[in-house]
Amino acid sequence: MPDSNSHQHQIYQEIVDALIAVHRLTDGYTPGHEDRTATLCVKIAEHLGLPRERIDILHMAAQVHDIGKAKIPLALLNKPGRITDEEYTLLKTHVQIGYDILKKIGFPFNLAEIVWCHHEYLDGSGYPRGVMAESIPLESRILTVSDIVESISADRPYRKSLGMEVALDEIRRQSGTRLDPLVVEACLHVVAEGGVESSGATA
Ligand SMILES: [Fe+2]
Ligand SMILES: [Fe+2]
Repeated sequence: MPDSNSHQHQIYQEIVDALIAVHRLTDGYTPGHEDRTATLCVKIAEHLGLPRERIDILHMAAQVHDIGKAKIPLALLNKPGRITDEEYTLLKTHVQIGYDILKKIGFPFNLAEIVWCHHEYLDGSGYPRGVMAESIPLESRILTVSDIVESISADRPYRKSLGMEVALDEIRRQSGTRLDPLVVEACLHVVAEGGVESSGATA
């Protein structure tokens, strides 16, 4: 007989799994990206010593962090090359859309807020709200770094992987300005330990 906390967690995980299953019906790429990002988040969070309960919530949040992309046309999500300012404005709406969906579920923890902040940066240059520094939950700062690394190092629908080294150079470049240096350091450690596989070529 599971205790009430683990039983409750299982129900929330099943809700998340159902959302992913619906998203997968129309988008063959994004749920896989979310899953790989979630795996990296867990490794970084474990390295940083977060309690198990917070890691489990972060894992679920990462699994649906781009659920709002269900509203963005696939032609834009999969578009090769540069996108226009107008297209970028549309693309950015996926964060608020995702937050609005997840908020409806009423998780008794900050899952929706973690998703809401996954494109915010320490220096306030992120979106949708320009939240800064410590006002961004640590879980979101982990998700942001993992998201960048996964996005660059994996094959995307419109291009092959740019390689893990390019991904790591990018988070090093943004460390301390946009990205939390402790999280970047933890990510570099996790990758160096061989805890992450790049799905594409090593450029
Ligand atoms: Fe996103
Ligand atoms: Fe993402």
